Amino acid sequence: MKERLKELELEAIEKINQASELKELNEVRVSFLGKKGPITEVLRGMGKLSVEERPVIGALANEVRTAIAEKIDEKQKILEAELVQRKLASETIDVTLPGRRVNIGNHHPLTKVVEEIEDLFIGLGYTVAEGPEVETDYYNFEALNLPKGHPARDMQDSFYITEELLMRTHTSPVQARTMEKHGGKGPVKIICPGKVFRRDNDDATHSHQFMQIEGLVVDENIRMSDLKGTLEVFAKKMFGEDREIRLRPSFFPFTEPSVEMDISCKICGGKGCNVCKGTGWIEILGAGMVHPRVLEMSGFDSKKYTGFAFGMGAERIAMLKYGIDDIRHFYTNDIRFLKQFLPTDR
Ligand code: PHE
Repeated sequence: MKERLKELELEAIEKINQASELKELNEVRVSFLGKKGPITEVLRGMGKLSVEERPVIGALANEVRTAIAEKIDEKQKILEAELVQRKLASETIDVTLPGRRVNIGNHHPLTKVVEEIEDLFIGLGYTVAEGPEVETDYYNFEALNLPKGHPARDMQDSFYITEELLMRTHTSPVQARTMEKHGGKGPVKIICPGKVFRRDNDDATHSHQFMQIEGLVVDENIRMSDLKGTLEVFAKKMFGEDREIRLRPSFFPFTEPSVEMDISCKICGGKGCNVCKGTGWIEILGAGMVHPRVLEMSGFDSKKYTGFAFGMGAERIAMLKYGIDDIRHFYTNDIRFLKQFLPTDR
């Protein structure tokens, strides 16, 4: 029996050494130390032994069992440590690998300019107004003092849908719509960006669809100097404090007097170059004091109220601000163009 126990111990040690997985090791444990294992069997057979032999074999059997159990525990620790090592190795991250570049979108340059202008006027107490792109003849022309047959309607060749409906040719109809909503009571202070449509042939400076930004202020005691001051603040904020403005007399049926505003040319500093066509000035918007008839038609008492309005092309402002030479760049979605307006850190 002694022999058998010694043999078992050696056998077990060999199996333990061979086990390379925790699962295998567990099988060794069950097969040698389990209830149906050979050691239990030896202990069971002790009844047949003599009284002297019994304690000796019993003690030896316990020794062998303890020795095997210890060996198994030792090996288990080793295998467990190996497992952890393997896991760590398979999960390591190489922090020196270059990262994957994420393409982040950006606002279109036109959107940027429109938002910048909106913010500027919101800062001056204006609210943003909107109106429909498909407009009635009444709001696009009549309510702006352009009755049917008025020669100034020729200025804006229009896309008509029916006799009475057209794609708006400017954002000025929003003036009339907003004033109507106010029910003859001031103050009105709005800025209105939006798409407008004209039957122009597209070229570097013309587009049949473009973006306008309209401004309107109506209240008691609004004067031409308020218009001038507002436009000056706008021009300097948009193009730089060193820019000068100048107002030239002009004509719009819905303003009286009417002006066009120029800003001094930054490129030549006023001396004359091709950007300003040799004049030293660049035209950027139309404006004027709201015509009394326009106030009256939209329900305002023109004896009590006065107002000013202005309208500009957003593309033109963006072109001057960013030095863009062709209006078509805004609409063709060439990624090489758009990428030039990404923040510099990307
Ligand atoms: N609506 C005019 C245009 O499209 C611009 C303008 C707006 C002029 C408001 C005066 C006042 O040309």
